[in-house]
Amino acid sequence: MRCLFLYAVVGGGLVFAVGLALTQEAPSRGRFATPQQRAAATRQFLGLGPAPDKAAAARGAPLFQQNCSFCHGPDARGAEGPSLITSDLVLDDNHGENLVPFLKVGRPEKGMPSFAKTPDDELKDIVEFIHLQVENVANRGTYQVKNILVGDAADGKAYVAAHCMTCHREADFDHIAGKYRTPDQLQRGWVWPLQPDDDATATTATVKLADGGMISGRVTQISDFRITLMDSAGQTHVIDREPGLKLQLHDPLAGHEAMLMTLKNRDLHNVTAYLESLK
Ligand code: HEC
Ligand code: HEC
Repeated sequence: MRCLFLYAVVGGGLVFAVGLALTQEAPSRGRFATPQQRAAATRQFLGLGPAPDKAAAARGAPLFQQNCSFCHGPDARGAEGPSLITSDLVLDDNHGENLVPFLKVGRPEKGMPSFAKTPDDELKDIVEFIHLQVENVANRGTYQVKNILVGDAADGKAYVAAHCMTCHREADFDHIAGKYRTPDQLQRGWVWPLQPDDDATATTATVKLADGGMISGRVTQISDFRITLMDSAGQTHVIDREPGLKLQLHDPLAGHEAMLMTLKNRDLHNVTAYLESLK
């Protein structure tokens, strides 16, 4: 119920109506004595859960920018990946009780990576950041769309020479910017070269069953309890991760992921600025 309603609100003209209703309230004379009360009333009107924890959201902001924004946009309104502002999963979550378990698994088969290795408290901070974005849309808060091309191309070039050439050749980056429509897609493309249907980037696994049988294939889904593989004949295998089962995972992008962990915001922007210059 709450979700359907917010869909309508965020998706359509109702945002406008809410905005109007709010601007009719004079700050100190209307129904609400303080902006905080007004914000709380708006939350209730929109059926949003408890207010986000601002301190946690502030800690989550850089984590979101680094791990999520290339796909979901800097303010979670969507880019290559869907908007999280209108997501049922987000709207049904209060303080991460649904979202944290979701993030640990992701939906790798649909291009949503798993964040199993990210500590819970960091995931919780990211979740509060997302809730704050919902709040900003709902309360028409002001926010700045960040320009992604803020880096220094020469520094980016040096970073690429020092960090990328162990795996790549110069030619990999020829005209790379021409392959993407916008700088944020380019950034998403080099930070997470994750193509759901691309064999070069797919995670594969070999499973040795308790009875000795072996199955290999592309991982389409994985959780603590179950793994789903598609073998070379296109057949799907759903395997319970019972004790005694041996699992060997191969992720061609493990190196990229490792690089992400040490990538600083400044390097991120510099590399994007450099790659953007390679039209
Ligand atoms: C490589 C791109 C990519 C990255 C990085 C990424 N996501 Fe996603 N995410 C997606 C895609 C694509 C989907 C939609 C999957 C589908 O169609 O089911 C998705 C789905 C989701 C959903 C579910 C939306 C819904 O209602 O079904 C949530 C929540 C989410 N992502 C949060 C995050 C968070 C938080 C991060 C960072 C910690 C993140 N994502 C990083 C691509 C990404
Ligand atoms: C540990 C090895 C490794 C490192 C280090 C690495 N990459 Fe990659 N990269 C890969 C692999 C593997 C792929 C996926 C196969 C492919 O698409 O070529 C890939 C894919 C890519 C792609 C997508 C390919 C395309 O055609 O769009 C881009 C862009 C990219 N990497 C950029 C970079 C940049 C920039 C750096 C350094 C900041 C970097 N990579 C560092 C291994 C690495």
